[in-house]
Formats: sequence, C-alpha cells, structure tokens
Amino acid sequence: MDLSVSLLGLHFKNPLGPSAGPLTEGLENMRFFNNNTCGVNVSKTISIEGAIVAKPCIAGTSNTIYNCELWSELHSDVWINEILPTIHKEKKKPLIISAGYLEEDFRTLIPELDPFADIFEISTHYVKDNLAGIVQSIRENTDKPIFMKLSPHVDDYLGFVQTVLDAGATGIVAINSLGPGTAIDLENRSVLLAEEIWMSGPAIKPIALHRVYHIRKAFPDIPIIGVGGIGKAEDVLEFIFAGADLVQMLSSALIKGRHLYDKIVKDLPAAIEKYGFSSIEEIRKVRKETIFKTPETFENNPPSFNKRCNMCGLCVRICPAGALSESDTIIVDKEKCIRCGLCESRCPQDAIYGVLS
Ligand SMILES: Cc1cc2nc3c(=O)[nH]c(=O)nc-3n(C[C@H](O)[C@H](O)[C@H](O)COP(=O)(O)O)c2cc1C
Repeated sequence: MDLSVSLLGLHFKNPLGPSAGPLTEGLENMRFFNNNTCGVNVSKTISIEGAIVAKPCIAGTSNTIYNCELWSELHSDVWINEILPTIHKEKKKPLIISAGYLEEDFRTLIPELDPFADIFEISTHYVKDNLAGIVQSIRENTDKPIFMKLSPHVDDYLGFVQTVLDAGATGIVAINSLGPGTAIDLENRSVLLAEEIWMSGPAIKPIALHRVYHIRKAFPDIPIIGVGGIGKAEDVLEFIFAGADLVQMLSSALIKGRHLYDKIVKDLPAAIEKYGFSSIEEIRKVRKETIFKTPETFENNPPSFNKRCNMCGLCVRICPAGALSESDTIIVDKEKCIRCGLCESRCPQDAIYGVLS
C-alpha cells in the first residue's frame, strides 16, 4: 500500500518520524532513525550552547511521560562538525533540524545548519516575546521551509500561527509538551523530578488533535506536522484526518521502546484498509470534503442495543442519569436518558448504537 506523502517538493515514504527529544540526541540516535522505517528524521533541538540539564529528568507511567529536559546537551559545534555531516553523507530520508531559541542564536546557527536541513523546525517552548523577530531572523538566513513548533500553553494559538506566517514561516508543528505541571512522589516524600515538569504521551493526544484540527480549519493550505500522544497506527490516521500532513512521536516510544516506530509503519496499511481508505494521500484529500459532526448534527437519539449485548451491566453502572436498568434485556428510560453517549463509547461489546453513531 502507498503510505507516501508529498509535501513542499519533498517525498516522504510514510508520514511518521520521531519528535525532538532524547531519542534524537546524538549520532547513534540520529542513525537509528535514518535507518529504520520512519519516513522522516528529526534532530533534538540544537542551540548554540549545550543545555545543562538537572538529572534525573524523565519519568513515565503507562500513558504519560513527565520530563524536565531542555534542548540538546551537545554544543552546536558537535552537531555542525560531526553529527550532521555524517547523517548527511548516509542520508536515506528527509531531515528536519530542530533549533532554538533566541533571535541572536539563529543569526549564527541557521547558516551553519542550512546545508544539512530539508526543513527547519523551531521550538518556541521558552519564547515569551519577539516571535515575529525570531522568524524573520531565521528567514533572512535560509530559503528552506520553516516550521514553528507550537507549545500547548499558548492560548491564542491561531494568533501564533498568523504571526509566524506573516513573518515568513512555512508551516506549524503542533504540539510540544503540556504544562508546566507538578507530580508528587509520595514514596520519596518529594516532588517527582522537579517543581516544574512537562507532560507528554497518550494523555495529551486530545489537546494535540484539537490544535491540529482548529489550525487546519483556520488555515486550510499550510503544511502541518501533528505530534502529541501518538502510540499506534490509528493515532497516525486520526492526526492526518484532523489536518496533519506528517506526524511525529516520542513519548510512546519512551514508554514502550523504540521498536514502536517500525511497528506503527507496519500496522499502517491494515489500519488504513480497516477504515475504508486506500492511502495516506487519500485521507489528506477526503478530510477537505468531510463535514465533521457537531452537536447540532447529531440526531439526539437514546441508545439502542444489538445482539452483541451480553448483559455485562457496565452501561447500567455508569449511566450518569440512571436511565438504564437490567431485566431480560437492558431497559432504557427515554425520559431520563440525557443522550450523552457515554454508554455507547464505553460498551466493551460494541453492542450499543444510535447516540454517537
Ligand atoms: C524527554 C523529552 C524531551 C523533549 N525535548 C524536546 C526538545 O528538545 N525540543 C522540542 O521541540 N520538543 C521536545 N520535547 C517535546 C516532544 O518533541 C513532543 O512535542 C511532545 O513530547 C509531544 O509528543 P509525544 O506525546 O509523542 O511525546 C521533548 C519531550 C520529552 C518527553
């Protein structure tokens, strides 16, 4: 099956790449992604000076990564003189170079990184002002596509997009880690990692999809890279359907292992087929014509039950309106039912229909 994506004159064998982070730090990691089945490679965020990161800096649960990492701990000279020339020589796929953070950094950095980059991705995670000036300083030093990476704590995210496009950016990467947050480690009677940590992984996927979907609605023609919580092939399709052209993943591979990238690429054809599509490009086209359901377009029906119902009783226990009860079958009190959809979404047998579907 054709998983390829054409974007900005570049050919990607499939839409998945790593996201800037510890898995893309240094030569060995960059080589891993150059050689695996991902369609695109991405560097850790490079700044002039290597970051000094307080350790420990990463902790995980089954669906969330907490971190207080910064940008690359390697000096930019190591990237420019050793890592990037080697990857460039061995190059098998387009390379996105992530860079940060200040206008003055970019005037020096961008010309030196430029020969190795197909696309620049600019982290704005620690940027408080001068967004337009930052983009202009990059644009003055490269003709390559510039993707500005949106952090989820930016409230006016559509304003962010408009500002960076007006200043010369090409596209958007959405989103960076969510936060700041705090996690408590009761066992050690302390905060986990640091007082200010950032969250990522499957728990943040709806926020990432929200930004991708709404940016795509407001800016139908710009390139968008979706990232945040991807962990399986279906997630990739959700992001493409919501509006992404390419996608990235980090935390799910930190939680489960980096073999996950190849697994997702391998699982993509079956997932595409399962949902009735024939290629990634088709999903990109179809989404333009799709009219998404809104509360006004639902029919406001109570739940109906099909033969798969095995009377497990979960819907009865969870109904927030107390509208379901058990007899020989599940009885729906249509007066009490508030048509919320929770029962249908939670049914383990896929036996409920009519509210959401
Ligand atoms: C440990 C860690 C380090 C990260 N470092 C960077 C970074 O250097 N630059 C950057 O733009 N984003 C960085 N991120 C954010 C990720 O690239 C990504 O945007 C975010 O984690 C959401 O994707 P995910 O849920 O697939 O991890 C980091 C995330 C984690 C967990």
